[in-house]
Amino acid sequence: MVPQTQRPVGVIGVGYVGLVTAVCIAHLGHRVVCLDVDEAKIEKLRAGLVPIYEPGLDELMAGARERLSFTTSYDELCERSRVLFIAVDTPPSPSGDADLSRVERVVSDVSARGGERLLVMKSTVPVGTGERVLAELESAGATAIGYVSNPEFLREGAAVDDVLHPDRIVIGAYRERDGDEIQQLFAGIETTVVRTSVPTAEMIKYASNAFLATKISFINEIANVCEVVGADVRAVADGMGLDERIGPHFLRAGIGYGGSCFPKDVQALKQLAGNSGYHFQLLNAVIEVNHLQKRRVVGKLQERLGRLRGKHVALLGLTFKPHTDDLREAASIVLAARLRAEGARVSAYDPMVAPGARADLFPGVAIATSALAALEGADAAVLVTEWPELVALDWTVVRDVMRGACVIDGRNALDAALLAAAGLSCDGIGTVAPVAIGDSVTSDEAR
Ligand code: UGA
Repeated sequence: MVPQTQRPVGVIGVGYVGLVTAVCIAHLGHRVVCLDVDEAKIEKLRAGLVPIYEPGLDELMAGARERLSFTTSYDELCERSRVLFIAVDTPPSPSGDADLSRVERVVSDVSARGGERLLVMKSTVPVGTGERVLAELESAGATAIGYVSNPEFLREGAAVDDVLHPDRIVIGAYRERDGDEIQQLFAGIETTVVRTSVPTAEMIKYASNAFLATKISFINEIANVCEVVGADVRAVADGMGLDERIGPHFLRAGIGYGGSCFPKDVQALKQLAGNSGYHFQLLNAVIEVNHLQKRRVVGKLQERLGRLRGKHVALLGLTFKPHTDDLREAASIVLAARLRAEGARVSAYDPMVAPGARADLFPGVAIATSALAALEGADAAVLVTEWPELVALDWTVVRDVMRGACVIDGRNALDAALLAAAGLSCDGIGTVAPVAIGDSVTSDEAR
């Protein structure tokens, strides 16, 4: 724990990244003032309620309660804090570039209040943003404001652990002492600290996300080829992952990556390169493979059921991955729309999505209150999100409530032998379907 003599750290924007960062910094013993323009969100936080679903965050916030305060006022924030983390969102603009308008707003709101400060960029921003902010500050005469790039690598659903036990902390600074100050702030976290220039720090973030997305699209293409040649991508990924140069992570084939980060950041990096005259061919393929992967499930359903008009398909899981309530760029949105366009009747269940809650994203989809209710009378089911409660369904009961017997495992998370024993067919992505031989079932995994 650090002495409480220092001024509190400010965090601007309490979305996933901002709130988790703020709570973790408070957990490390610092006082933190959080600002957001969303009054309802700030009210909730003041009442001790966490406005997002993130495992472990409630408990951590409750434990650091007395060191956290919340405001909507820049005057209050700037009066109390000198070091200000910026964690506002940078959504894609229509051109595919990151929209920096919220970041710009923050910079002008802070610089208008003068004083000697240090801005720390947590939001994912294009390479060159630091230079741009510095130029803006200079032209506004706010030369006493320093700038540090400190990109965030947390994953939704594992955010608290990722912040407190990161693989690395990246700090890009213009002035050595600014970098030292931020490194000192995170002194309670044991990890490698990468000290570098601001553009390099910005690029580490984009390159990391683009590489992870590339790994996913790569293994998805391998999965598609596996289907043609009769190989099982799960065993292929295991075999590949044992090579230390490749590593076992992010080689889970499925229906593609979603979320608020990979789709946006890969697009933004491609755009960034394009704006400087470089055609980033590999990223074009990564993006295209991901688009097509979401649609492959429709083809698999057609192979099994024939024309989908009038057929009932149940979607199991809607969020872009388990342990989050986030639906941004979720594969379920594309899949539901494609199935509806083919004339299918679509029902769905997700532990985080209440019936009727997101009619904007899932028009015409009947969202049920339980998996079995969504599966009632379905001709086919698709596992879209590998929530543990969906993976652990009692497939004998599922077989009883469904009309058909077809299950598509969009995440290669189901035990195909268990489903086969219950009388259900189970098609994964790039997997070898188990073959019933007498009472036993063989697959690459079982052999
Ligand atoms: C991602 C990165 O993993 C974080 O390091 C980064 O900080 C974050 O983006 C960000 O830039 O803010 P996140 O989007 O929360 O984190 O989720 P991931 O766990 O990385 O999953 C992203 C998508 O890839 C999900 O749709 C997931 O289902 C998919 N995925 C992941 C696969 O299809 N296969 C895999 O092997 C791994």
